[in-house]
Amino acid sequence: MQALPGFRDFLPGDCSVRNYIFARWRAVARRYGFLEWDGPVLEPTELYRKKSGAEIVDQLFNFTDKGEREVAMRPELTPTLARVVAAHEREFKKPLKWFSIGQFFRYEKQQRGRLREHFQLNCDIIGEANLAADIELVALCVDVLRGFGLTEKDFVVRVSDRDFWTDFLRKKDVSSDRWDELLQAIDKSGREPREKTAEKLGELADPIFSILKTGGKSQKLDQLVDSLRERGLGDYVAIDVGIVRGLAYYTGIVFEAFDRGGKFRAIAGGGRYNNLIAQLSDGSVSMPALGFAMGDVVLGELINDTPRAREAMENAIANNRKIDVYVIIAKEQRRADALARIQQLRDRGYRVDYPLVSEKVGKQFQTAEQLGARVAVLFGDEWPQIKIKDMATERQELVACEELMNRMSELL
Ligand code: HAM
Repeated sequence: MQALPGFRDFLPGDCSVRNYIFARWRAVARRYGFLEWDGPVLEPTELYRKKSGAEIVDQLFNFTDKGEREVAMRPELTPTLARVVAAHEREFKKPLKWFSIGQFFRYEKQQRGRLREHFQLNCDIIGEANLAADIELVALCVDVLRGFGLTEKDFVVRVSDRDFWTDFLRKKDVSSDRWDELLQAIDKSGREPREKTAEKLGELADPIFSILKTGGKSQKLDQLVDSLRERGLGDYVAIDVGIVRGLAYYTGIVFEAFDRGGKFRAIAGGGRYNNLIAQLSDGSVSMPALGFAMGDVVLGELINDTPRAREAMENAIANNRKIDVYVIIAKEQRRADALARIQQLRDRGYRVDYPLVSEKVGKQFQTAEQLGARVAVLFGDEWPQIKIKDMATERQELVACEELMNRMSELL
């Protein structure tokens, strides 16, 4: 039996990577004053049908449950967030700054950087229409990536504004029911053959290609970049009106993070969705909102591909794997005494390991080294004294067994 295509097994090494990513995500989101929340992994299919747009609906893992409900594994968090915020709006002071780390499911064609499950960090700000919130959110996205030791040489956040395009379409007298389809075509233009995009854009192909080539002018975007420059983050962002975002609910500023080398898919993406909460609550709650999500798959690839970031990750994982104490049972008669002390050490919060069955002393020391133990404690002929070895300095000492706890708090 094998795992389904696009689904991963997480062996201990993979879990270490995952935990490292989650810990950095959490730490930086907390630095920005975001609070953690989560929603259910299964939602009514309707939630996505109404809100996410055609592409995601095609990719749903959905089924009819035993109560005849149409349900779907969540492909993203934003519709759930809008539902939850609309329901609990009165309970919280605005703006809400919420983050979440969870697993998402999309029936995508498996390819580099795209699987059928992945983890995302979602960060959203609800209830603030001012551009200051967009700037703060882009800064957070940059800082999350910097948190992995990635620099402006490794990635860039491309910022854009859907209003730029809707203003353009309005000026060209394009009826608003065509906007979505045209925005989707612009979004895909970088990934599709030019002729295919041109066909979708029709008479607008020439002017749109020309804007994409020369870049567009937007005061809002200039202000956003200037403000990030004042924070010292200017080199991490670039204006690129070619970013439109595939999801249907975005309304204003949108952005995506990419590796500078152009080797990988998008690392993160997000933007404003000022109408989604009102749409989901049938107009009963209306609040401006914005957010982004960063996936673990492309981020992991980029970290592995960037020596500095990779080394930082490997060091953090190696340190986190280390145990404090390895207990060496040199005489089997001492096993019960050793186990009593092991229990005490663990109760105090030390990471302690020992051989479950009788083993040669030399082999036990080898294991202590492999596990990165800082101290080895030997129970043997010296009882009721025990031998303590500092594994780094190789210094050994004999102490009375009652002294073990005191000595440990000095050594560790
Ligand atoms: P998204 O662009 O669909 O946005 O996904 C965000 C990130 O999740 C992508 O940049 C990518 O790193 C990762 N990702 C998406 N699909 C896959 C996949 N199949 N395999 C691996 N990684 C993947 C959203 O989901 C929006 N809901 C973000 C948002 C939050 N907007 C506002 N708030």
